[in-house]
Amino acid sequence: MKGIILAGGKGTRLYPLTKVTNKHLLPVGKEPMIFNPIKQLISSGITDILVVTSTQHMGAVVNLLGSGKKFGCSFTYKVQEEAGGIAQALALAENFAKGEKIVVILGDNISTTSIKPNVDRFVNQKCGARVLLKKVGDPERYGVAAIDEKKVIQIEEKPNSPKSDYAVIGYYMYDSQVFNFIREINPSDRGEMEISSVNNLYIEKGQLEYDILEGSWTDAGTFESLKFANEIVLETNNQLKNSN
Ligand code: G1P
Repeated sequence: MKGIILAGGKGTRLYPLTKVTNKHLLPVGKEPMIFNPIKQLISSGITDILVVTSTQHMGAVVNLLGSGKKFGCSFTYKVQEEAGGIAQALALAENFAKGEKIVVILGDNISTTSIKPNVDRFVNQKCGARVLLKKVGDPERYGVAAIDEKKVIQIEEKPNSPKSDYAVIGYYMYDSQVFNFIREINPSDRGEMEISSVNNLYIEKGQLEYDILEGSWTDAGTFESLKFANEIVLETNNQLKNSN
């Protein structure tokens, strides 16, 4: 199993903090934001990790992370030349994945509990994809899942009238079909290759499983969520708790 951290994007909602600094290098607690997703992958036993970021910020990201030796992992880097959405960034990982299953983390997703049990369930899942959900107060900001007890029925990206309070958060597990699905989707109205469109193709095939993430979680792409990310990471010193 391989890991992919998506750390591109312009971070415009955090201007001017992100005018010269990559969002994922901003401080969250006592460490750069990207340390939390790295810890998630390592805590799940994944040490072969691809980091995707923009041309502008690749130098700083490599300066910070290096080979991975000091984290006990190995980093590979790939440049995303233009920001065209999460699915477009993920497409760059096809050669790296080499047909293996992958765990993809959005570099601005911060949590306090290890996703290892979820990754273990995905290892035992025959094929398809697995997403993690979290109940949120402002679902219209996210990909939102309509669910029954067993399955996700549909995912809508940033809906005006959300069908539930469950956000599909930035931890995605895929088998090798994902790269074919990315080739099938079209850009959304906001001009992005949406990861929700990819997940909906797995739903059509009856191959999308889900878990609800334990512990605290937030994205850190707005001033308000960045403040909350700092609070939860300072409380735990960025040490991930084990869950069931
Ligand atoms: C992205 C995804 C969305 C997901 C969210 C989690 O949104 O498009 O489906 O719920 O990440 O952080 P964005 O941060 O690009 O607005």
